[in-house]
Amino acid sequence: MSKRVSDTGRVSTSDDVEVGTYLEIAEAAVAEGAPSPIPHPPSPDGDRDAVAVVDFGSQYAQLIARRVREHHVYCELIPHDAPEERFRALRPKGYILSGGPSSVYQAGAPLVPRHVLDAGKPILGICYGMQLLAHQLGGEVEPGTKREYGPAVLRVSHPPASIFRDLPAEFSVWMSHGDVVRRLPPGFCSAATSDNSPTAAMWNGDGVYGLQFHPEVVHTSFGSQLLGNFLREVCGCTGNWTTASFVEHTVEQIRAQVGTGRVICALSGGVDSAVVALLVHRAVGDQLVCIFVDNGLLREGEPQRVVATFEQHLGMRLVHVDAVDSFLGRLAGVTDPEEKRRIVGAEFIRIFAQEARKLGRIDYLAQGTLYPDVIESTSHDTASAASRIKTHHNVGLPENLPFRLVEPLRYLFKDEVREVGAALGLPEEIVWRHPFPGPGLSIRVLGEVTAERLATLRAADAIVMDEVRGAGLYRQLWQSFAVLTPVRTVGVMGDYRTYGNVVAVRMVTSQDAMTADWARVPYDLLGRLSSRIVNEVPDVNRVVYDITSKPPGTIEWE
Ligand code: XMP
Repeated sequence: MSKRVSDTGRVSTSDDVEVGTYLEIAEAAVAEGAPSPIPHPPSPDGDRDAVAVVDFGSQYAQLIARRVREHHVYCELIPHDAPEERFRALRPKGYILSGGPSSVYQAGAPLVPRHVLDAGKPILGICYGMQLLAHQLGGEVEPGTKREYGPAVLRVSHPPASIFRDLPAEFSVWMSHGDVVRRLPPGFCSAATSDNSPTAAMWNGDGVYGLQFHPEVVHTSFGSQLLGNFLREVCGCTGNWTTASFVEHTVEQIRAQVGTGRVICALSGGVDSAVVALLVHRAVGDQLVCIFVDNGLLREGEPQRVVATFEQHLGMRLVHVDAVDSFLGRLAGVTDPEEKRRIVGAEFIRIFAQEARKLGRIDYLAQGTLYPDVIESTSHDTASAASRIKTHHNVGLPENLPFRLVEPLRYLFKDEVREVGAALGLPEEIVWRHPFPGPGLSIRVLGEVTAERLATLRAADAIVMDEVRGAGLYRQLWQSFAVLTPVRTVGVMGDYRTYGNVVAVRMVTSQDAMTADWARVPYDLLGRLSSRIVNEVPDVNRVVYDITSKPPGTIEWE
């Protein structure tokens, strides 16, 4: 697995970390013993159109995959050096070659696999991908006189190649390259130019295209239309990969995998585990039992919402474990953030395993692994991050839990999970829930975690949530929450001097939690937050707003 971690060793974006942590270890156990239950790649979905994105290590490779899927065309990112079988199993109607950090003329530079070039299917090479096409098909690539980075004006040659159909003759594109195609391969012509690139795009008059710019980034206007033209006009895809077809196919797959077996699923309150549970429930009904461990570290009203949603509203079998005392007992006296994380993770595993055993024979464990967690990395950075996360999560798993895994979200991005959740009738509050760390409020009560301090934080945090939602900003923010600091300050209320707690409010915008900026919310909102928290939450007499971006700060305070 290649989950990302920050420099502090934290998990980057999971909002189901207890479950994820547990299962990562369970997966390792499965790998040693039972055969993998997940056919990889999954069996192709009937007539579903698919495209393979050949990954050469571009920072934008995942983005290409997401953009393709926005056209309702299924695609997978496949490392350039993966076995041919991986590509063939996808039955791609075309190939997209990603960019990458290498130079084609360097020794050992990754190449387009021969079977891709020989497949007779359409190919779209982007940046390094285009240079590879030029290099391997008999053209010439060399270092440019200067690196071209940033916006450029693209001029489409006339008559336009089919991927430029219905696009303007000139539009702005995003360039990021050092090398240039100096001589076109035989049979190719230039399809567009820019000031610095006489060959900003090339094609062979048939199905093979190269783009020197990045159509997948938002800075390229008409980038999505361009990819759409490639998918529809060139590859002949019909856009039949929809939420409805995903649900239908996945439910069938789960049924086929699970048969009459029994499945458990740990609910965390987050969208991933919720969608997993819904899919499995739809597939095998009461063969699924969900376990919800209330660790006492969730936000105001969340445990009640999980129970109401899954048990009452959706009619699922739910084991609700009230483990508040045991978590708080183990956290007593602990102030070190990493120690808190370790304790919460280990206690979760202990309780989950204990509850699972009570259920008798269980065959499968359903979990919300997402596509970014399973994409094999072609970059050394991520590979080494993956090895670090293993140690981070190195908590002991009780033996003899021989579950096999059901991972229906293994090929979805987060936004796709949300779409599926909404289609399955999950309440908006869960579908759009902000990421929430596995150790929960334990890392937002700075210093020792006690029931009283948790209650104070929860009350302040509920006001933050309420006001952010009221201001219509919830979806625009990546996260918003309160932190209870260990600082006490002097204040004055009426005629009295007070000596109370300081609450910090954190609101950030972000794309993926790797970087974040503090949110420039209206002063009025900050004013309302402050006065409500100080007036409504006992023992709090001061509110501060965190104006630190990440880096150098982290999103969480611990
Ligand atoms: P930082 O604080 O490192 O957080 O900027 C990045 C993202 O990760 C979340 N986070 C965690 N998530 N377990 C988790 O599941 C953790 O221990 C943890 N620590 C931080 C944080 O909320 C943000 O979304």
